[in-house]
Amino acid sequence: MSKLFYFILVSFLAVSCYWDNEEYLYPEIGSGCDTTMAVTYSAGVTNLLKGSCLSCHSANAAANLGGNIKLDSYASVKTYADNGQLLGSVRHASGYSQMPKASTKLSDCQMAVIEKWVSGGSLNN
Ligand code: HEC
Repeated sequence: MSKLFYFILVSFLAVSCYWDNEEYLYPEIGSGCDTTMAVTYSAGVTNLLKGSCLSCHSANAAANLGGNIKLDSYASVKTYADNGQLLGSVRHASGYSQMPKASTKLSDCQMAVIEKWVSGGSLNN
């Protein structure tokens, strides 16, 4: 009887962890995608860059993999936000290198995060 009880309890816990998993319920959270609130550099943009861009554009990787373009600090991201390359590349606009390179385009929601941040003045917030 008690074995059965524990079996049911453990099964229940396993299942409830799965269903309560935040990233399962809200898959956009991990990707830094939530445009319902003000988008900030620290909470929105950096998560997104970490997830999709820094494998090539971190300080260490940039020289070998990222065309020497670093996106790991506010100052450098701001440079590409200001010159239009950040948005142009993720939108796959003509005249820009398509980013993330050799991978699927960012989701509409992720692009909206970047657009919202840039149109808000690319603040260091
Ligand atoms: C697999 C490696 C890789 C990933 C991932 C990647 N990039 Fe790049 N990126 C490059 C390389 C290499 C270049 C240099 C230009 C080229 O070769 O296309 C580049 C160039 C750029 C440029 C300059 C664009 C231009 O038109 O010259 C920007 C801006 C940029 N990347 C932003 C991003 C952003 C934002 C992400 C994530 C959404 C990203 N990259 C993901 C490799 C990568």
